[in-house]
Amino acid sequence: MRFLLRGFVLGALVLASAIPATANPPTVDPVAARKRRRAELQRFLGKDYALVLGQPLTDVLLPRQEGHFLYLTGVQDPDASLLLVGRDATPLSLPRRGEKPQEAREVLFLRNASPRFVQFYGLRYLPGKQSAKDLAVECARAAPRGGRGLARRLAQWLPTDARLRLPAYKRPDHITVRAIRKALVKELAAARPDIVLTDLTLQLRRQRSIKDPGEIRALERAVRITMTAFRETLKHLRPGATEGEVDGALLFAVRRRRAQPAYRFVVAAGINAAIPHYFRNESTLRAGDLIVIDAGAEVDRYAADITRTYPVSGRFTPRQRTVYDAVLRAQEAAIAAVRPGATLRTVDKAARDILKEAKLARYFIHGTSHHVGLDVHDPGIGPLQPGMLITVEPGVYIRDERLGVRIEDVVLVTKDGCRVLSADLPKKAAEIEAALRAARKQAPERK
Ligand code: GLY
Ligand code: MN
Ligand code: MN
Repeated sequence: MRFLLRGFVLGALVLASAIPATANPPTVDPVAARKRRRAELQRFLGKDYALVLGQPLTDVLLPRQEGHFLYLTGVQDPDASLLLVGRDATPLSLPRRGEKPQEAREVLFLRNASPRFVQFYGLRYLPGKQSAKDLAVECARAAPRGGRGLARRLAQWLPTDARLRLPAYKRPDHITVRAIRKALVKELAAARPDIVLTDLTLQLRRQRSIKDPGEIRALERAVRITMTAFRETLKHLRPGATEGEVDGALLFAVRRRRAQPAYRFVVAAGINAAIPHYFRNESTLRAGDLIVIDAGAEVDRYAADITRTYPVSGRFTPRQRTVYDAVLRAQEAAIAAVRPGATLRTVDKAARDILKEAKLARYFIHGTSHHVGLDVHDPGIGPLQPGMLITVEPGVYIRDERLGVRIEDVVLVTKDGCRVLSADLPKKAAEIEAALRAARKQAPERK
């Protein structure tokens, strides 16, 4: 039976590699998972209340949903927000037209959009019972307009001396929600000076640090798709090709598997490889150059983040090889340091010590790790624990030598250490050269 099963699984794998999947498999009941996350937050809140803001619509394109809000609700539509009542706090008493007030501990505010607006943006959810049921929230009410509208609603609903917790929204990409928060705080201070405001960020960081099985599965899938995209792109790596065509090949491989790009890919050849966040991807690959490729697919908004460095001519020069091997040793040492109780600082030190020995530490100009999840730079906190997902990505960038090397993998912290999710994508210098040789055989014709 086991063999039969294995045969079947193998057959399925072969098929899966031949044809892109028709749909991403559902993660482990995400609606129930989000309900659990909100319940955990309510336990933390105790007697407090919390408000978590969604991204507003600011331009013609739908905004990328704010991570904390998406984590708790799964709603991608703009202009939404979530009001939560702590487990030991007085529930809200929401007025209802013609009926007695509704007691609630969870209110999802959704934009009361016109049919034209719904069509225009392809919105998924409107206020009302259907959305509440689909999203398993207690009630879904029409969102008041902006920070001032929200403040007025809270001023009506919250009891005397209530403590309201709000995330601080300090990240650069929080600029729009930060503006709503600012307007809300100002209006609320004027209308209800008794309400005390405190920060919610730390608890959300704590919760989001440790991934549940559905989140890990989504990330594993994102990593698998990214590894396939790298493999399918190798045939484009040759002198005369452009960074743009390599970028396009990666994107095609990701999109045909119904995933999204998690960020703008870095496809950086030659001197550009010395720029860690290069994203213009518009130069030509030259013989003798190294090319740094940093790409990640996103599945259900969970972001993979993988980097490999390749010699454009197919073989490393002795100097490139020396630097490459040092970065790889640094990465292996850092991965070996990933285990429960370690910190991002100790992991970073493990990589940095190796690069110091190799006299390359001064060219290592960024940190070794960050958490990954709904955001590619996901919020995380505290010593490493099982269920945390981080990257390990030392790099060396020497502009004077037109040289940059980064090697990045996604790593899951486990009970006894860690598991490298992207371990199947070759990274030893000899394996990289062999993979390039094999890919050359199927190189596309140059026109
Ligand atoms: N791709 C962005 C990073 O590696 O942090
Ligand atoms: Mn990266
Ligand atoms: Mn990264």
